[in-house]
Amino acid sequence: MSFPLQLKAYSEPVDARLRQLLPSVETPPTELHAAMRYSCLAPGKRLRPVLCMVAAESVGAEIHSVLDAACAIEMVHCFSLIHDDLPAIDNDDLRRGVPTLHKKYGEAMAILAGDALFALALESLSRSDQMAERVVRAVQILTAASGSGGLVGGEVVDVLSEGKAVDAVTLDFIHQRKTGALIGAACEIGAVLGGADREVSKALHLFGIQIGLAFQIADDILNETSTAEQLGKSAGSDRERQKATYPSLYGLEQSREKAEFAVEGALAGLRSMGIVHPHVEELAYYAIQRLQ
Ligand code: IPE
Ligand code: IPE
Ligand code: MG
Ligand code: MG
Repeated sequence: MSFPLQLKAYSEPVDARLRQLLPSVETPPTELHAAMRYSCLAPGKRLRPVLCMVAAESVGAEIHSVLDAACAIEMVHCFSLIHDDLPAIDNDDLRRGVPTLHKKYGEAMAILAGDALFALALESLSRSDQMAERVVRAVQILTAASGSGGLVGGEVVDVLSEGKAVDAVTLDFIHQRKTGALIGAACEIGAVLGGADREVSKALHLFGIQIGLAFQIADDILNETSTAEQLGKSAGSDRERQKATYPSLYGLEQSREKAEFAVEGALAGLRSMGIVHPHVEELAYYAIQRLQ
């Protein structure tokens, strides 16, 4: 089976479960539910839920045992994209090949759909059919990764750094939080719910953080080198908004090297712990070799 097909074997159950977990468009408030489904079911890569399931498999669990958790992580990701695109933050018009949520449904609905997705994520995760102790730990991991010490914290420093010359430490602070934190959480939650011990869970967490950094470096590169048509979202916008990015600090070539270095480090860390999975290498390189 080719790698894209293998990826589909993981992402298809996620899409199917998301369709069930997201409230129907017939349920009031219908406009809110339509907005949540519009964003969440749009064709994203589903990298975070796939990583969650792969982490679970790598510790001997079955993907279906972490499906609701994987969907919860995708909901948090989707909420972050909706809010990231708002005029007050990145002011983007295109996402996943379609108009951004605020363009289609208005800003109020975009803010509220994001809020509701975050709540639904926690509801879905806490309903996971798992040992209570593991579920509580998973909720702690997801909330810590989403909040001021993680994704939101990274977004704040990203916004505050616009138009400023940032140093390497600040740039990594932004990238490890706005993107690395949730990807790290996806891997750790897969491990925790899959029954891994603390050491293995932490190793998978670190793997996710490193892959997340590499993924964001690749996103910075793609923003410079691709077209909006290829990406399904705006291109060239980082430079326009004078964002703190890897290419702006290091140039394209060195950025590519640093992304590769992060992936190699991530894989070496897993190997040293004896954590193996048939798709993990391809998945790790996909984070930086993807075309969108
Ligand atoms: C976009 O994430 C935001 C970043 C962290 C770079 P993805 O590139 O995973 O977006 P989707 O889910 O495929 O749309
Ligand atoms: C990615 O932000 C991180 C989050 C959305 C939390 P970016 O602003 O760099 O990503 P894109 O390019 O809009 O997807
Ligand atoms: Mg942004
Ligand atoms: Mg953005």
